[in-house]
Amino acid sequence: MKEVDTAAAYLRAHLPFTPDLALVLGSGLGGLAGQIEQPAVIPYRDVPGFPLSTAPGHAGQFVAGVLGGKKVLCMQGRFHYYEGHDMSAIALPVRVFKALGCRALILTNAAGGVNWDFSVGDFMLITDHINFMGANPLRGQNDDSIGPRFCDMTHVYTPELQQVALRVAAARNLVLQKGVYLGYMGPSFETPAEIRAFRTLGADAVGMSTVPEAIAASHCGLPVLGLSLITNMAAGMAGKRLSGDEVIEIANQRGPVFQGLVRGIVEAL
Ligand code: HPA
Repeated sequence: MKEVDTAAAYLRAHLPFTPDLALVLGSGLGGLAGQIEQPAVIPYRDVPGFPLSTAPGHAGQFVAGVLGGKKVLCMQGRFHYYEGHDMSAIALPVRVFKALGCRALILTNAAGGVNWDFSVGDFMLITDHINFMGANPLRGQNDDSIGPRFCDMTHVYTPELQQVALRVAAARNLVLQKGVYLGYMGPSFETPAEIRAFRTLGADAVGMSTVPEAIAASHCGLPVLGLSLITNMAAGMAGKRLSGDEVIEIANQRGPVFQGLVRGIVEAL
C-alpha cells in the first residue's frame, strides 16, 4: 500500500468520524485545538510513515472533533523543512487529508511582516505565495493518481475561501490584511538585505512553512485557505533583533483573537 493510503487507513480506523475540514495550526496557534468539542487525539508518532515534529510551540498531534459545528481534523503542530524533514514528509499529511475526504484545508502560520503598512499582531489573508525555499514537494517521480506532473498554481489559495474569510473578519470588525507570503527555508531568520529584496519581489510577509503544504494541496486538488499572524516586523524593520521566543509570545497574546477568526471561518464554510 502507498504511504498516503497506509496513513489514511490508520487515521480512518482511529477517528470517530469522517472529517469535513482540515486545519494546520502554526507556531503558538495550537490553542485552537483546545476549543474542539469531543476531542480525539492521535500523536503523529502513532501514524505509520509520520515523522516527529520538533519545532517549539508545536504539539505534534492530530486533534479531531467538532469546531464551529463542523467535523474538523487539526494538526496541532506541523512539519517544517528546516527541521530536516523531506519535502515528501511535509506533503504527506496534506495528501492524507485529501484521501480522508476533507473538502478544504486551512493553513495558519506565524510570519514576519515585510509590508511597511502592517503592524505586529495583524492578521493576513494569504492571496498568493513566493516559493523561496529552494525545494518543491512535487520533485521526484509523480504519482498521477494524486495529481498532474505539472501542477497549475494560478489559484493556490482558493478565491471562494478568501471571500468567506474576508466576510467573517468584517463581521467581527477585525482587520484582515491581504498579501503575498514568501516561504523561506530557515531556520535562521532573514537578513535585512534579504527582507529588502523580498519586498522588491512582492512579498508582504515571510515565514518558514505553509508553501510546501499549499503546493501539495494544489497538486491533489484540495482547496486551501492561508492565514498568517504577523508576530514581528521582519529583520531590519523594527530596529531590534528577532527571536523565536518573541514569535511565540506574540502568537500567544494574539492567539485567542486569531483563533476566534479561524473558528468563525470554520463555522461559515
Ligand atoms: N521570518 C521568518 N519566519 C517567521 C518570522 C520572520 O520574521 N516571524 C515568524 N516566523
